[in-house]
Amino acid sequence: MDKRLQLAPSVLNADLSDLRKVVEVVEDVADLLHLDVMDGVFVPNLTFGPLVVKAFRRVTDLPLDVHLMISRPGLFIPRFLEAGADWISFHLEAVSSREEIRQLIDVIKNSGKKAGLVINPETPADGLLPFLDSVDFVLVMTVSPGFGGQNMVPEALDKVRAIKKAARARGRDLMVEVDGGINEDNLRMVAEAGTDVLVIGSAIYAAPKPREVAERLRGALDLLSTWKCRKET
Ligand code: DX5
Ligand code: ZN
Repeated sequence: MDKRLQLAPSVLNADLSDLRKVVEVVEDVADLLHLDVMDGVFVPNLTFGPLVVKAFRRVTDLPLDVHLMISRPGLFIPRFLEAGADWISFHLEAVSSREEIRQLIDVIKNSGKKAGLVINPETPADGLLPFLDSVDFVLVMTVSPGFGGQNMVPEALDKVRAIKKAARARGRDLMVEVDGGINEDNLRMVAEAGTDVLVIGSAIYAAPKPREVAERLRGALDLLSTWKCRKET
């Protein structure tokens, strides 16, 4: 498996009046583009839907990582697949039946796309255990979902370790993504927890020189990747 730490800039705090510019800032250094979909019900904020995902699809070849913070993901997953999403994750807290969670994972995977389950900072990792064999990735929130620019809840990183360990016990090297409050100061701590994909929003897009920050983050992640490789071999 590729051990390079992946950078997924979140456009939540970017100026969406010019999508090409939003993409340009990170295109050379990002592995994925993280798009936060909020419905005003599951979280107290409202963002965008499949139309905007489709618009991003037209302006970039970066894989689109669509994070659904919506209360009925099953209703909309097909629409996001049609819009060009490559990775789709939905919240464990949003769907109560295990059967439905499995079905939604299958819908995404059967389209050849990556399926992820997300847990909020206060949700124990145990709820993910029945799905560790079927999901392509897990997304651990390190802030309460809904807004960019919040401070990280570092305790949530313990779940990254627990999930990686539980998956390893099942013979899987499961990809874990972390989202919320990541910046240049705490990057190392996030990587050391075993994270594979780092979502970074306002640290890039709210900075006076977003491109410079994105380039520095890429450099730092590459260094940490080398360290991670050495540790694991
Ligand atoms: C929060 C979103 C995050 C957010 C991250 O609900 O899921 O993706 O954009 O932004 P920062 O990096 O500012 O916490
Ligand atoms: Zn997100």
